[in-house]
Amino acid sequence: MTEINKDNGLPFISSFRVNTDLVWQMSRSEKYALIGLLEHLKPNCSVEIGTYQGGSLQVISEFSEKVYSIDISPEPKRTLQPLFDNVEFIVDQSVNVLHDLFKNIEEAGEKLNFVLVDGDHSRKGVHDDLKMILDYPHKNDLVILMHDSYNPQCRKGMKDIDYSSYDNIEYVELDYITGSFWHNGNNREMWGGLALIKVSGNQNTPTEVNESARNSFKVAQLHSIHIIKDKLRFLSPIKKRIYKKLKMRHKADKYFDFEK
Ligand SMILES: C[S@@+](CC[C@H](N)C(=O)[O-])C[C@H]1O[C@@H](n2cnc3c(N)ncnc32)[C@H](O)[C@@H]1O
Repeated sequence: MTEINKDNGLPFISSFRVNTDLVWQMSRSEKYALIGLLEHLKPNCSVEIGTYQGGSLQVISEFSEKVYSIDISPEPKRTLQPLFDNVEFIVDQSVNVLHDLFKNIEEAGEKLNFVLVDGDHSRKGVHDDLKMILDYPHKNDLVILMHDSYNPQCRKGMKDIDYSSYDNIEYVELDYITGSFWHNGNNREMWGGLALIKVSGNQNTPTEVNESARNSFKVAQLHSIHIIKDKLRFLSPIKKRIYKKLKMRHKADKYFDFEK
């Protein structure tokens, strides 16, 4: 069997100078999409949910006047604050802060034009982030990018939204950029992909949810291990406790301790 490419985001060739010291958890196509989109949008103000090591933040910061980047872990703020002049780091769970943040942005006279959702990847986490963003009465045109729309749980969270109940949504596409199967050596898992939702100040007709890669998604899902793994999700807290007891490093520990 041929060896699986451990990083399908490299090499990366672009006029945007990527700082490769900042780990960027996106595929090559997602990186190009984020750069191209933001280069065009040039947001007055952007919000990022899920900072991690600043990979995506470097692009958002470059093309936005002001950025608020939220992470549940204190590590991004500690390590990245000195690198970004126009970024305010918020250490909290996104759903605790989003509503007041949108209100403060508006009161400060800033215009929110872009949000990247890449924080809690559970079905409920994705749904709650997106619902909180859509429920706010935004006054400006807004583009929302949701990472990992190819992951079955994240996708379900996105599909749990009743888009027809909003009259300001112009466009929804779950496969704006298609994700991949067996991505970066994640055994038979589906990750990546960018969903795009466009909110506009104008009233729009009820929105159709586009899934341009639906067939590819379904075929990959049949061959994936998610069907089993998602059913065993309830064991996750027990697994975490066992890891802690055995002083083993859990996969999610990397978000709270960048040094190791
Ligand atoms: C996949 S990483 C983000 C990757 C980054 N956007 C990039 O492209 O390189 C997810 C991040 O979300 C953070 N996170 C998880 N749950 C969160 C929540 N409920 N609120 C805010 N941040 C959260 C994690 O600590 C982690 O740093």
